[in-house]
Amino acid sequence: MSKAHFGLIGLGVMGENLILNAERNGFSSVVYNRTYAKTEAFLAGRGSGKQIIGATSLQDFVNKLERPRRILMMIKAGQPIDDTINAISLYLEEGDLLIDGGNSLYTDTERRVIELEQKRFGYIGMGISGGAKGALEGPSMMPGGTRQAYEDVKDLLYKMAAQVEDGPCVAYIGPRGAGHFVKTVHNGIEYGIEQILAEAYDLMKRVDGMNGEQMAKILDAWNETEELSSYLVEITSACLKTKDPGDGSDLVEKIVDKAGQKGTGLWTVISALEMGVPVPTIYASLNGRVMSSMKDERTLGESIFGGPIVLPFDIGNPSNNMQPLEDACVLACMASYAQGLALLVEASRLHEYNLNMSSIAQIWKGGCIIRSRLLKRIQDAYTSNPSLTNLVFDPWFTKQINKRLPGLASVVAGASKAGIPTPCFSATLDYINSYRTSRLPQNLVQAMRDCFGAHTYERIDQKGNFHTEWIQ
Ligand SMILES: *[C@@H]1O[C@H](CO)[C@@H](O)[C@H](O)[C@H]1NC(C)=O
Ligand SMILES: *[C@@H]1O[C@H](CO)[C@@H](O)[C@H](O)[C@H]1NC(C)=O
Ligand SMILES: *[C@@H]1O[C@H](CO)[C@@H](O)[C@H](O)[C@H]1NC(C)=O
Repeated sequence: MSKAHFGLIGLGVMGENLILNAERNGFSSVVYNRTYAKTEAFLAGRGSGKQIIGATSLQDFVNKLERPRRILMMIKAGQPIDDTINAISLYLEEGDLLIDGGNSLYTDTERRVIELEQKRFGYIGMGISGGAKGALEGPSMMPGGTRQAYEDVKDLLYKMAAQVEDGPCVAYIGPRGAGHFVKTVHNGIEYGIEQILAEAYDLMKRVDGMNGEQMAKILDAWNETEELSSYLVEITSACLKTKDPGDGSDLVEKIVDKAGQKGTGLWTVISALEMGVPVPTIYASLNGRVMSSMKDERTLGESIFGGPIVLPFDIGNPSNNMQPLEDACVLACMASYAQGLALLVEASRLHEYNLNMSSIAQIWKGGCIIRSRLLKRIQDAYTSNPSLTNLVFDPWFTKQINKRLPGLASVVAGASKAGIPTPCFSATLDYINSYRTSRLPQNLVQAMRDCFGAHTYERIDQKGNFHTEWIQ
């Protein structure tokens, strides 16, 4: 057999599906897994009858690839990536290209791109979104590294990616860790939207006593709207409709209410804090997961804290699409995107990524978990104004906020009185209210800081730094 076009290290579900995708698109492939039995099982199973061969060692793997070699690593982030790079570097030659398709910490990718480029190898840190199905049928891909490395692998990525009306869901993101950073923030936005839909479910269930079937109908109706139509709304409806095969009741009610959080959500929030970008809706979703995992303490708390419970309140009804609740969901989802994108804008400035925001929105329109119709509006917003500081200032989004703010406010107010936590809705309301308040009370914070620490303050009516002896 002639040499293979493409190589894969790591036969997990994502790796298998990506290589089947590449092969279907005409790229013969060679696969390697540290456990050869795993490789054999794949070749005898899903990989059989295809232009896919196996390799018994990394050296064998490298020898079976045409040059310049193009190798995708789908293995655990962290040390395993460094170990694999070190092991395979012995056999690579100048111009060969390694792609890390996992969820690596972007600063690790920054370091690796620089190290590998010094050895004259290409290195791409590439975010891939779409889950197992997306990997097989067409994911959204966010490659970062040198432009040259990207050019070497562009033909392959174009064919493998999801396709939307204006092209494939992949584009050169930027240098060094840019691709992994954009994927990290993608996941942060995803955390936000998942929590928002969970809050909507909680309110429909606890305030209006709706069952899974009834809630799914609402989500299906929302999925028909430009503002909410999305993959996550669609699968939420499917989850709510699903019955426990045992007794025919709603299956979600049988699931333990604890959600973990892996690296990317946390990294989004850490980066935002470091870069001084407010991402309260995304942070609230992360914190919501952390609170959820404290099940024992919450159970204790429920038995000891009294307090007001004022029910019911108006979250709308099926005949009006649950209007206030729909408003809350729309604005909170917009806030998740707006905060994530604002973080990308700042990261682009700090790290000189030169991110093309409209192109990032384009890539997210298909294949990935946060794909939605709203992304077309987001793409348009950044196309018409590439230096937009925050989505809230785009005229279409401004109109949405003005129209839907009363709905969001009434949901948050009602939930507060009912004692139902709505961390993302509440954080979104505070975010928007802060954005529309030109004078915040931090003047008093400055006074306190000057009082106890002589930190000085600025005045609205005079230039300079001032200090006052506040306590006589
Ligand atoms: C080998 O395959 C397993 C999946 O069975 C995967 O989790 C692991 O990362 C792979 N490792 C390497 C080094 O190929
Ligand atoms: C939900 O909307 C998406 C478009 O965002 C569409 O592709 C999908 O078919 C819709 N799902 C349902 C169940 O109507
Ligand atoms: C950003 O990407 C779009 C394609 O999505 C392209 O049309 C546009 O020219 C790019 N802008 C810049 C400044 O490169």
